[in-house]
Amino acid sequence: MAPMSDSSLRLDVAVVGVGRMGKHHARIYRQLPGARLAAVVDNDPDRAGATADEFGCDACGSIDELLAKHPTVRAVSVAVPTAFHVQSARPLLERRIACLVEKPLAPSVAAAKELADLAVRCGATLQVGHTERFNPAVRAVAAMGIRPRFLEVDRVSPMTFRSLDVGVVMDMMIHDLDIVLMLAGSPLKRVDAVGVAVMGKHEDVCSARLTFASGCVANLTASRLALKTERRMRVFSEEAYVSLDYQKRTGVVLRKAPNAEALARVREQLESGADLSQLDYSELVQVDELTMDLPPGEQDPLTAELTSFLNAVREGSKPEVDGEAGYAAVEAAERVVRAIAEHRWEGLENAKV
Ligand SMILES: NC(=O)c1ccc[n+]([C@@H]2O[C@H](COP(=O)([O-])OP(=O)(O)OC[C@H]3O[C@@H](n4cnc5c(N)ncnc54)[C@H](O)[C@@H]3O)[C@@H](O)[C@H]2O)c1
Repeated sequence: MAPMSDSSLRLDVAVVGVGRMGKHHARIYRQLPGARLAAVVDNDPDRAGATADEFGCDACGSIDELLAKHPTVRAVSVAVPTAFHVQSARPLLERRIACLVEKPLAPSVAAAKELADLAVRCGATLQVGHTERFNPAVRAVAAMGIRPRFLEVDRVSPMTFRSLDVGVVMDMMIHDLDIVLMLAGSPLKRVDAVGVAVMGKHEDVCSARLTFASGCVANLTASRLALKTERRMRVFSEEAYVSLDYQKRTGVVLRKAPNAEALARVREQLESGADLSQLDYSELVQVDELTMDLPPGEQDPLTAELTSFLNAVREGSKPEVDGEAGYAAVEAAERVVRAIAEHRWEGLENAKV
């Protein structure tokens, strides 16, 4: 199919799987000027019907029905449970229909590779729903072009009793694995991890340490057993220190250059034996707000993600989070899960995972 260059062109789109996540896709497509929501697909007929009524589109019970009734559909969001990503996306990609497959791309490295390769072979656009990449705070860090030496990421929240068919690594940490892989920009060399399962057979808490070929190290913590919700990332680099809050979509940055003089003065004083215990460090350094394209709160990451997907389809360009990136995140997640299994607990009775 030849790429369409006219960015004002409305694309016929559909959403497969309209549960918690797919419903948001349908709602946003309905609002985007560049999209016409033709149909939603769900194997639960009541859910498909109710969502179609709400968003003024057709309801289909299967992908075959979608293909038969809506041959003009060019782009589809696949938001069925991860176990069904491959079987849902395959017939679409084979017809060169662009797919935005929710994260994680697939439940295993082999299945993720199958989808990534299929998209390349068929010349179909495949984007993966790593929505956090479109968080304005994450975009601002990526745009700084810094080379991280050390990253620290926490993603913790209370138990929702959902997604218990997978562990916290595939469910939550995978967001951060994708971002860390992108920011580190270097092959993953070594993975160490510990995890604990409390609710079922999969880990509910995990602490992982990733070492990259460049020497960059990332410490990631994910928990679905916390008493509060917190999503933070800290990036230490030669050029700057950045701290961001994924949830509030805000961040602060301490750049090396504006602080170099003050820090040099402090070093001199310390070397000469001065007592600086009364010095207020937070007043010493210059802390700047992370500059974003739009004010915090005005950028919804999912809207940005779907807009970017449709642009890639229209222009025939590489999506921002392509099949290869989706595959890399699944591969890293599997390595973390394997490292948890390989971790040796000694002297702890009944240690699980
Ligand atoms: N990007 C994010 O931040 C984010 C957040 C939550 C979930 N997700 C991902 O979104 C996907 C869906 O998760 P969810 O929480 O919305 O699940 P869900 O269970 O709420 O919804 C899934 C829907 O798919 C339907 N379905 C199941 N199998 C189907 C099939 N073969 N064909 C058609 N419909 C089918 C179900 O009836 C249901 O309506 C998962 O891959 C999950 O990991 C992503």
